[in-house]
Amino acid sequence: MKITIIGSGYVGLVTGVCLSNIGHQVICVDNNPDKIKTLKKGRLPIYEPGLLELMKECVKKKRLSFTGSIGDATKSSQVIFLAVPTPPKSNGDADMTYVENVARQIAQHMDSYKLIVEKSTVPAETGKKIRRTINLNLAKKYKHGNKILLDFDVASNPEFLKEGSAVHDFMNPDRIVIGVESKKAEQLLREIYKPLKPKILVTNIASAEMIKHSSNSFLAMKISFINAVAQICDRVGADVLKVAEGMGLDKRIGRQFLDAGVGYGGSCFPKDVDAFIRLSEQNGYDFSLLKEVRRINDQQRHWFVRLVEEKLWNIKDKTIGVWGVAFKPNTDDIRSAAALEIIQLLQAEGAKIRVYDPKALENAKKILHGVTFCDNAYTVVEGCDCLLLLTEWPEFKDIDFVQIRDAMRQTVIFDGRNFLDALYLRGIGFEYFGTGRGKAL
Ligand code: NAD
Ligand code: UGA
Repeated sequence: MKITIIGSGYVGLVTGVCLSNIGHQVICVDNNPDKIKTLKKGRLPIYEPGLLELMKECVKKKRLSFTGSIGDATKSSQVIFLAVPTPPKSNGDADMTYVENVARQIAQHMDSYKLIVEKSTVPAETGKKIRRTINLNLAKKYKHGNKILLDFDVASNPEFLKEGSAVHDFMNPDRIVIGVESKKAEQLLREIYKPLKPKILVTNIASAEMIKHSSNSFLAMKISFINAVAQICDRVGADVLKVAEGMGLDKRIGRQFLDAGVGYGGSCFPKDVDAFIRLSEQNGYDFSLLKEVRRINDQQRHWFVRLVEEKLWNIKDKTIGVWGVAFKPNTDDIRSAAALEIIQLLQAEGAKIRVYDPKALENAKKILHGVTFCDNAYTVVEGCDCLLLLTEWPEFKDIDFVQIRDAMRQTVIFDGRNFLDALYLRGIGFEYFGTGRGKAL
């Protein structure tokens, strides 16, 4: 099938490459000319494990191409996925201008039946607004009074991939949700995903949109729940790792997304929780549970900074080493990363910060100022009064901690992800502080 993807970021590129990999003819569009130039040169503008190799294969098989022109791409495909940003506005609403803008451009170039699919995460009822925008902007020859003479469908097909394992998640989905208002749209989407042999759930458009917001908010709620539990564990001498394990053994609960730490970040959970709260408000419901999820998440970062303050006594002029600035491992993405806020709060107290991250340093340099960026995990700790682990990159497990200990001025580690071997570290002379484990160890 001929498919166009508009927006070649984390979701658009993964979707485009993977759909091409399973046999479709895909055009990825972006309005950022630098991105298109990079992609045409066979390079990726983002880091995502496994994506580059797959992209090169698809390009070689002539099943994947890149363009800056929505017009050409619209004309040459029957199915068009929207994977543009839906970032938060200052009031928490999702900013839908990118989606509207693209819908308008598609309408202006449509010359035959098209299926326009929401892949971006959008508030419920966006499907209706896309349909209206397309109706309003179709070329005059396709309108006769109030009658629309060109057939098209809008559908919702939310994406559930996680950065860092995006290719695997896309190729092995737990489920594919298809929100449609016609049999034709359903058939086309079923056909597209057929090679993945997925479990498909067909709903109306609003339900599919709600499934996405509800899923992300529920996962965020699990994280805030375990972070609240971790706060109590610290006070009563329990170990949150054991508590999460014990809870997770109940199949109704499950162990995933019960890792306590500095809270959730990334481009999605914070913005989607905000957008869901706003959507609820606009529809006359106060989703106070989600407000608390957000409050606990914000509080967790401040709690972590207070812990560092308490243990270091004075922050001013202390040198603090940081491992990890990406919002999670295996990505270069730092959008709403907990590390950014923690670093900035410590800088405001007068700390000197040294940072290392395996993939996210280039992005971090655009945001963080007055920080010393280091190119490996060892140099970053030189002369440090403490070390903070803020992203659990696998390479931090394989470190020679004796060498780290000997390079530091004070041997104190704050493990914001409960990732390191606390007993070993204490055994070789570190003061180790995790989240929700304090008294238990
Ligand atoms: P992104 O910022 O990485 O990518 C969006 C791309 O769209 C950018 O390359 C941008 O240049 C391009 N773009 C913007 N306006 C355009 C236009 N008018 N024409 C063509 N291209 C345009 O964002 P992302 O992380 O890929 O997220 C996209 C959407 O997918 C969001 O709604 C997000 O919530 C959702 N989502 C993201 C993830 C994830 O893990 N990142 C997972 C599921 C869903
Ligand atoms: C999340 C969802 O997991 C995806 O299903 C969804 O498609 C995506 O958002 C989206 O809509 O964009 P992602 O943000 O890429 O994926 O990464 P996650 O693995 O979910 O992690 C999100 C944040 O939560 C990270 O900061 C991570 O460190 C944190 N987290 C995760 C925890 O603090 N504890 C956990 O137990 C799990």
